[in-house]
Amino acid sequence: MTEDQNLIQWIYSSKNEQELEERYDQWASNYEKNMAEDFGWFGPPESVDAAVKYVSKDARILDAGAGTGLVGQLLNEQGYQKLVAMDLSEGMLEQARQKHVYGEFHQMVMGETLDFPTDSFDAAISSGVLTVGHAPASSLHELVRVVRSGGHIIFTLRPDLYEDGGFKEVQTGLESDGKWKLVEMGDPKQVLPKGEPDVLHQVWVYEVTS
Ligand SMILES: C[S@@+](CC[C@H](N)C(=O)[O-])C[C@H]1O[C@@H](n2cnc3c(N)ncnc32)[C@H](O)[C@@H]1O
Repeated sequence: MTEDQNLIQWIYSSKNEQELEERYDQWASNYEKNMAEDFGWFGPPESVDAAVKYVSKDARILDAGAGTGLVGQLLNEQGYQKLVAMDLSEGMLEQARQKHVYGEFHQMVMGETLDFPTDSFDAAISSGVLTVGHAPASSLHELVRVVRSGGHIIFTLRPDLYEDGGFKEVQTGLESDGKWKLVEMGDPKQVLPKGEPDVLHQVWVYEVTS
């Protein structure tokens, strides 16, 4: 990290997936403290609120880009018990293990084929992962494949990436192909109000239809 960079810029400036993985591995043990204290991160509650609204408590849920397990912790507090953590970074997954709320842990990369059977989840949730230099728009295809018809996919997305990051094309393409339908789209909200006030996230909820 250079002197004039903060941790978020350091993460965003990763040159490739391997560097991103290494940086998250390095950051993992201080991630929650830094995100809360330095950036005022409140990302997960909104995605979890959406899950509570649409996903039944006995659902098997994939937490895609689970990080240190903040989403799993909140889901578990709401009574969800069949939680599967997946992340690029083993270091982040190691922190998630310490939450004792997930039944499975998988090191996988969104954007590549996921090593899960088709229709093997009732829902997928991805908070703070569809962002600059992280999971690409194409990763939504695999989330649709692994979630059964009638299940839900909940994710946060930066509004600027909707247009510029190829998400609009993928999201509307999946809709016109009859793969999913839009259930809810939240308002853009600041998620890193302290350190990065320009970063906005929007919660999207889709129902898988095929
Ligand atoms: C900002 S953190 C969010 C973690 C957690 N979901 C939360 O809400 O606190 C982003 C996470 O996505 C993971 N990640 C980034 N790109 C990924 C990819 N292509 N596939 C899987 N995980 C990825 C990172 O390792 C990191 O744990």
